[in-house]
Amino acid sequence: MPSNIEANLPPTNEGYGTHEYWEQRYAAESDGTTFDWFLSPAYLLPLFEELTSDIGGDKAKGKGKEARILMLGCGNSGLSEELYDAGWTNIVNLDYSKVVIEQMSQRHASRELMTWQEMDVLDLKYNEEEFDLVVDKGTMDAMLTTKGDPWNPPEKDIKTCTQEVSEALRVLRKRKGSKFVYFTFGQPHFRKRYMQNRPGFKLTHKEIGPPEGFAYFMYVLEYDGSDLQQ
Ligand SMILES: C[S@@+](CC[C@H](N)C(=O)[O-])C[C@H]1O[C@@H](n2cnc3c(N)ncnc32)[C@H](O)[C@@H]1O
Repeated sequence: MPSNIEANLPPTNEGYGTHEYWEQRYAAESDGTTFDWFLSPAYLLPLFEELTSDIGGDKAKGKGKEARILMLGCGNSGLSEELYDAGWTNIVNLDYSKVVIEQMSQRHASRELMTWQEMDVLDLKYNEEEFDLVVDKGTMDAMLTTKGDPWNPPEKDIKTCTQEVSEALRVLRKRKGSKFVYFTFGQPHFRKRYMQNRPGFKLTHKEIGPPEGFAYFMYVLEYDGSDLQQ
């Protein structure tokens, strides 16, 4: 069931940056609502083939499907469900909205290998090196909604986004193929600053379409072992 998006918009853009907004929004959406903020799961699936192809060993044996994936700020997106049904069953989903986590864990109870946890992306309750792929789709974007000059974001936003990336890298396994991937409408000038200069990780980005219309980007921080070569 699609979301009634117009009825659930915050009064100002800054509303997206508040926990209250998300709790109210998800409480107002009827059970069963699925909403992807941008880029449909079907469009993204081939990119996940690519992102996981070198995780866990032999590409030919399709071991990428065994990747342990952490979804940051899952909301009620259909992405994890579609990944699961396509074979990536080792997924942990988190969101700081208790309401959406309850809805999603009930809805996907039959997808037993996938879990749903209420958690803040800024304070992950996982040990170091638990995941192969950490995914942010639009979550950092929701934390960058403070009013003001986007060319010079406030110190608070810089600190928050930098912290999110640091947490993601902390829980990533330090081995070949491990990646933090961020899907966003944010152009490189406005987003690279949160991911640059991370020892042991190489940052790349590319525009991923869709072919017509608004541009979306995929940023990847991939472990390259350079932290061990000093
Ligand atoms: C724009 S939505 C994106 C949802 C989904 N990833 C998608 O692509 O449709 C942002 C999501 O991030 C969650 N979120 C925002 N800040 C968060 C934080 N600090 N910790 C955990 N989740 C957060 C919100 O509750 C919301 O579900």
